[in-house]
Amino acid sequence: MVSFSRCVLLAGLLGSAIAATPAQWRSQSIYFMLTDRFARTDGSTTAPCDTSKREYCGGTWKGIEDHLDYIQGMGFTAIWITPVTHQLQGDTGYGTAYHGYWQQHIYELNSNYGTADDLKSLASALHKRGMYLMVDVVANHMGYDGAGNTVDYSVFDAFNSQSYFHPYCLITNYDDQTEVEECWLGDTTVSLPDLDTESSAVQNIWYNWVGSLVSNYSIDGLRIDTAKHVQKDFWTGYNSAAGVYCVGEVFDGDPSYTCPYQEVMDGVLNYPMYYPLLRAFDSTSGSISDLYKMINTVKSTCKDSTLLGTFLENHDNPRFASYTQDMSLAKNAAAFTVMADGIPIIYAGQEQHYDGGADPANREAVWLSGYNTDAELYKLIAKANAIRSHAIAKNSGYITYKNYPIYQDTNTLAMRKGLNGSQTITVLSNKGASSNTYTLPLSGTGYAAGTKLTEVITCANVTVDASGKVPVPMAGGEPRILYPSSLLVGSVVGC
Ligand SMILES: *[C@@H]1O[C@H](CO)[C@@H](O)[C@H](O)[C@H]1NC(C)=O
Ligand SMILES: *[C@@H]1O[C@H](CO)[C@@H](O)[C@H](O)[C@H]1NC(C)=O
Ligand SMILES: *[C@@H]1O[C@H](CO)[C@@H](O)[C@H](O)[C@H]1NC(C)=O
Repeated sequence: MVSFSRCVLLAGLLGSAIAATPAQWRSQSIYFMLTDRFARTDGSTTAPCDTSKREYCGGTWKGIEDHLDYIQGMGFTAIWITPVTHQLQGDTGYGTAYHGYWQQHIYELNSNYGTADDLKSLASALHKRGMYLMVDVVANHMGYDGAGNTVDYSVFDAFNSQSYFHPYCLITNYDDQTEVEECWLGDTTVSLPDLDTESSAVQNIWYNWVGSLVSNYSIDGLRIDTAKHVQKDFWTGYNSAAGVYCVGEVFDGDPSYTCPYQEVMDGVLNYPMYYPLLRAFDSTSGSISDLYKMINTVKSTCKDSTLLGTFLENHDNPRFASYTQDMSLAKNAAAFTVMADGIPIIYAGQEQHYDGGADPANREAVWLSGYNTDAELYKLIAKANAIRSHAIAKNSGYITYKNYPIYQDTNTLAMRKGLNGSQTITVLSNKGASSNTYTLPLSGTGYAAGTKLTEVITCANVTVDASGKVPVPMAGGEPRILYPSSLLVGSVVGC
């Protein structure tokens, strides 16, 4: 559905290598941030940001550009930023549009984040580092301060008349897909006027818009908001007009509901995995077996598990640390995110063990952490991204090889990804930080007796025993990632 010729054309026009295809995205690792909450132009690490006020806190595209070392230092190769379009102005009953999901003018940028040149400069700074820019886009709706029956459509550009919209009705029954697609999100305080995406007038505007957005700002990929609120056949044309990898937000944990959207766009956020991943590690009694099963279910239900976006946290769900402060559990869940199938997505602040609960508490300013590169999770994520990138560099078959679970017990999950001889073995535990030190004899890794492996979190070396078991050194409930010692040469893993 992505037109390759278009990519080549654009790359030629702009004179820079635009990395845009699903195949190119598959091996990336994404750091996701709310532009308003990551970094300010003045570089402040003390500027206050009271999330409960839902106001602009001052983050900018320039701020992001100035902190790319911090992001790249964790091994990320791409960033995803929140929507860039001009929003409804001023305060509402739910605060301001600091998050970017209440757009009114689609051809204008949100000036709170900077200028068009700032956004282009961010793209160019990323590309100089060989990194990609993913931008969040909303096609389902606009935003309006007031109830749906009071909307003045002339404030919108484009879509400046009621004829572009579905008749006003609020979604009440989420099991009724017609309602989900044709009625409106939002409520009587802030309404989200729902575009008539079945009409060719709306389709023409959006398809032209998305192609020009991508080329004007040298965007490499798109994250599509509220994808399940638009009829499926809209997305085929949209993804194709974008000409870059698109990953859709289908906010539903049922793989039989969510996976079919991958037939109409390159990837979807892996909500089916999110819930069992959270439940496996949010306490020491979480279900490992549900996660084990879901790995296989997603593989058999989704078109291509290696093109999904895998995540533990985002701005719509409570942070992991709001469920448990156990650092060891947070490390295991983060390690899964990076080492399983799909494109890993880490939400800014996760690496600092931020613990905000439901929206808006989960939208803390990252600058208040001081961008601490010595934070436990910062280092863990850096290790995991490093071994993943290294495994891909050593064998390109790694990234299309589908991760599968090889072992489970009440508190442990082990999984394998990669072709014979260069596979990673990831061993995860939900025993928690107070767990003891022990050796897990692990079979089913695919490694022959005598093979020397390095556990990259601790840099311990182990040798596969005569019966083919790997003696995995477990301690403090921390995750373990094994890879052949002989192949580690030249990596930035640090072992
Ligand atoms: C991209 O730039 C062109 C030429 O200036 C303009 O016509 C178009 O509206 C722009 N697209 C967006 C999404 O800003
Ligand atoms: C993978 O390697 C193991 C151990 O070296 C070997 O037993 C197995 O046959 C190999 N599998 C394939 C598909 O090559
Ligand atoms: C592990 O083995 C490598 C060589 O394969 C060696 O350079 C390294 O020092 C060993 N690590 C430890 C902790 O012994």
